[in-house]
Amino acid sequence: MSQTKDKYQAFLETAPKLPRHIAIIMDGNGRWAQQRGQAREQGHAAGAKALDKVMRAAVALGIPYLTVYAFSTENWGRPQGEVEALMSLLVETIREQTPGMQEHGVRLLAIGDLDRLPSISRTALAEAIEKTQHNDKLTLTLALSYSARWELSHCMRRIATEIQQGLYLPEEIDEAVISQRLCTAGLPDPDLLIRTGGEQRISNFLLWQTAYAELYFSPIYWPDFDGDALLEAISDYSGRERRYGLTREQINKPIQQAEDTDLATTHDA
Ligand code: FPP
Repeated sequence: MSQTKDKYQAFLETAPKLPRHIAIIMDGNGRWAQQRGQAREQGHAAGAKALDKVMRAAVALGIPYLTVYAFSTENWGRPQGEVEALMSLLVETIREQTPGMQEHGVRLLAIGDLDRLPSISRTALAEAIEKTQHNDKLTLTLALSYSARWELSHCMRRIATEIQQGLYLPEEIDEAVISQRLCTAGLPDPDLLIRTGGEQRISNFLLWQTAYAELYFSPIYWPDFDGDALLEAISDYSGRERRYGLTREQINKPIQQAEDTDLATTHDA
């Protein structure tokens, strides 16, 4: 057993409460590079390596879902050179990291307005998604050309069309109908949302899905975020009490009693 595996194994032996789905806002690449007198693009390249490390750590811990904010709708407004560098990096990263994904059982998905991506990026993504589709240890979802307001507008247009076509009545639109029409349909909601880089905001990321996520803000710039930093975030999460609007007493009720009062439908992540 490797040293890395030992570290994660030892952590798991402390019986932490593990999140099933971790979402990450990978922030701080530019500042990381500027601190070193490098171009912002080098920060993004270092960020891609950090993503590989964190993906491997998530696999070692048995976390089944990891979703990362790799490029937002708003990022299209960055200087053209930086956007182009990010698009090239996306292709390189996918090509370089697909063998590791195969080795570790990682299934790749992408969410967002993918039609806006250059065709070379779409092709690289589609190939990696296809190659990894049967892997079942971790689902890694890249949010690309994504923003929650874009996603929600898209979802509302779709629902309006379905109502117009007579497939639904307005009163039939509930949370499940909406969730099934978001880009994340089929994925559980994130339990833990991590933002690196010291800022404390959600920046238009998974606004519907993170309704009950625990938030964790790290001062570490994304390129320096690694397995140890992930363990720290999970330790912190593990100590949180998730109440979903209920009281502490209700949450701590024995399971049978909870089932009797319908509380069993509440997640216990
Ligand atoms: C935010 O840092 C990060 C991004 C806009 C891009 C995230 C991309 C990666 C981590 C690269 C790897 C991923 C793929 C799949 C290509 P920032 O530039 O806003 O940093 P700053 O706030 O310090 O300026």
